[in-house]
Amino acid sequence: MKNNKLIIKTESKSYPIYFGNNILKITGKLIGKNLPKVRKICIIADNKLPKILLNKLIKSLRKYELKVYKLHANEKIKNLRIANRIIEQLINYNFNRSDCIIAFGGGIIGDLSAFISSITKRGLKFINIPTTLLAQVDASVGGKTGVNSNQGKNLIGTFYQPDFILSDVSILKSLPHREMIAGYAEILKHSLILDRKFFFWLSKNGKNIINKKNNIYLTDAIIKSCKIKSKIINRDEKEENLRMILNFGHTFAHGFESAKNFSKQLNHGEAVLLGMIIASELSRKKGLLPSKELSLIKRHYSNLKLSTNIKKVFKKNEINKIIYFMKKDKKNINKKINLILLNKIGRVTKFKKTSLRSIEIKKFLNSYYR
Ligand SMILES: NC(=O)c1ccc[n+]([C@@H]2O[C@H](COP(=O)([O-])OP(=O)(O)OC[C@H]3O[C@@H](n4cnc5c(N)ncnc54)[C@H](O)[C@@H]3O)[C@@H](O)[C@H]2O)c1
Repeated sequence: MKNNKLIIKTESKSYPIYFGNNILKITGKLIGKNLPKVRKICIIADNKLPKILLNKLIKSLRKYELKVYKLHANEKIKNLRIANRIIEQLINYNFNRSDCIIAFGGGIIGDLSAFISSITKRGLKFINIPTTLLAQVDASVGGKTGVNSNQGKNLIGTFYQPDFILSDVSILKSLPHREMIAGYAEILKHSLILDRKFFFWLSKNGKNIINKKNNIYLTDAIIKSCKIKSKIINRDEKEENLRMILNFGHTFAHGFESAKNFSKQLNHGEAVLLGMIIASELSRKKGLLPSKELSLIKRHYSNLKLSTNIKKVFKKNEINKIIYFMKKDKKNINKKINLILLNKIGRVTKFKKTSLRSIEIKKFLNSYYR
């Protein structure tokens, strides 16, 4: 498979994403080319990754002075205390602004490492090597960094773009099926909000992608997804308007995850899948989305065995809790809940156009239990 490169352009910075199969071993070469002044590198790695992968990365960086942190990736480590501990050590090791941090993990490691890079000495160099599908198609692209506060997820953070991203499909070999589905949720979202043709392509090839049966289709889906996300962030880096369409399905998902207290019972991707199908059904109910389009989306879900049934995840008496958290969403204006809905596959409603009273959403969710 040939290697591919995509340049992400934002107001603050342009940088490449390198895509390919088994390209981890050229990380050192790419640093030499993109960041010739780097002398010291700190790798922040997910400790669940197969050892062979970290060894491969370390081998490619043998000419640099290396510090390696291995962390157990879970939302509890994405906090200021861990960030501060690593920052203090980097300062102690005399890391300066031409030195570099590499995130080697999924979205948790990526968000934490990017945050550390952005605030240490007002900005170290930063490279992201995402190791989950979700991080390859979503979390690594866009420059949002963050840690959790005691009062909620991702409430502390900065915008900070990496110097480059290396997206190696072979790293996904060890990724569990459930995490593949979680990443696929964001790929599907990108097609639903902005690219009808891509949706039909996914309808044909989705199964092979989720089951890792075909690395070429998987890489194509990752590249296409990054292109769609980059098109949006090129025009709205700081989430002032257009970028909000990326929240399709996510207002519901946020309510679902919060109501479950972010437990492993429902991961982010599963919540997004459920959120997108419910947002699609609500779009139909509001007369925004034709029934035929909804049927195509439902068929996509059923062909890929993606979960659509809210009743399997929540009891009726949990709806109040879901609504409570949906009301707290950052995107709401006044007392209403702001939603991104669908007009057709590949086109969403404009941000701020659809805001509904919580009672209406509650009634709609309750209707699933009749
Ligand atoms: N910055 C953004 O724009 C953005 C966007 C979406 C999500 N996020 C954040 O991303 C996080 C979720 O990211 P995620 O879904 O990648 O989760 P994650 O980082 O928790 O990884 C999921 C699981 O997969 C394991 N894992 C990672 N790579 C593996 C591999 N190659 N082989 C085997 N196991 C592997 C991890 O140890 C973990 O158990 C959340 O904290 C979310 O807030 C950020």
